[in-house]
Amino acid sequence: MSFPTERPRRLRRTPRLRALVRETRVTPERLVYPLFVVPGDGPRREIPSLPGCFHLSAADAAREAREVESLGISGVILFGLPRAKDPLGTEGYAEDGVVQKAVRAIRSECRDLLVMTDVCLCEYTSHGHCGVVDGAEVKNDPTLELLARMAVSHARAGAHVVAPSDMMDGRVRAIRTALDASGFADTPILSYAAKYASAFYGPFREAADSAPQFGDRRGYQMDPANVREALRECEQDVAEGADVLMIKPAMPNLDVIGAVREDFDLPVAAYNVSGEYAMLKAAAAKGWLDERQAAVESLTAIKRAGADFIVSYWAKELAGWL
Ligand code: PBG
Repeated sequence: MSFPTERPRRLRRTPRLRALVRETRVTPERLVYPLFVVPGDGPRREIPSLPGCFHLSAADAAREAREVESLGISGVILFGLPRAKDPLGTEGYAEDGVVQKAVRAIRSECRDLLVMTDVCLCEYTSHGHCGVVDGAEVKNDPTLELLARMAVSHARAGAHVVAPSDMMDGRVRAIRTALDASGFADTPILSYAAKYASAFYGPFREAADSAPQFGDRRGYQMDPANVREALRECEQDVAEGADVLMIKPAMPNLDVIGAVREDFDLPVAAYNVSGEYAMLKAAAAKGWLDERQAAVESLTAIKRAGADFIVSYWAKELAGWL
């Protein structure tokens, strides 16, 4: 069948027809909103590199989380800026650390909003790397125990889901073992399974004050040129006990999201990262594109590629737009 019998434009003629046959839809319940929490109880401050997102005290994070919940968004993922940094990222796994406090505050304010936590050392280390540093090297195995402690401390504070983003080998197993041994066998691990060494994290590193003080992250995060390696990373994480596989960044890696969706039965998540958000915000501020359309188009494409849910700085705005 072809023209003139087949006329694909027939089904594009009105908004009703287009809605009737739309294949992919982003809904608030498939979104997770990142929150940046800071020590003390100062007023919330907008993050210059992430317009519309704020540095929040624990109390403000709880208020924000309530709003997120009321919009029908499924969860938040927490990142912390500690009071002090040291070579081992001690505040990252302290019982009264900045994230642990915020988790408790949010849990006491919200009914069933999912509270997820990013598990990584880079926000807490003085050198800004995601693991223990020895000379110029980021050591893999000594980092695992610290990550496991961090995950357990988050779960103890009330986190529903822990999300390791460090890219050390073996961290999913280390975290799974520690959670199980501490009475948290039911806490899922959302693994940043395929996390690329990406320039698109720039605005986040300003927001989280987590840029490496020397070198870069290419020794542990993945080379953006590789997709087979991403599948191997996923395979390993599944074997180690991951419950959800996340790909990050999202927009430059739609093929990776598609490949992981094809090859694995686990839920797939995608992180629509800070650079993806900031660049559209900046272009929109110049009047060069329509932010709402560009954001909906981006997230729809990420979902179409195969993501079950998406972590995005647009979650709140999007919930209003959809
Ligand atoms: C921590 C972490 C990063 C992001 C999420 N977790 C930064 C990095 O790896 O440098 C980036 C998120 C974003 O850019 O929105 N390791």
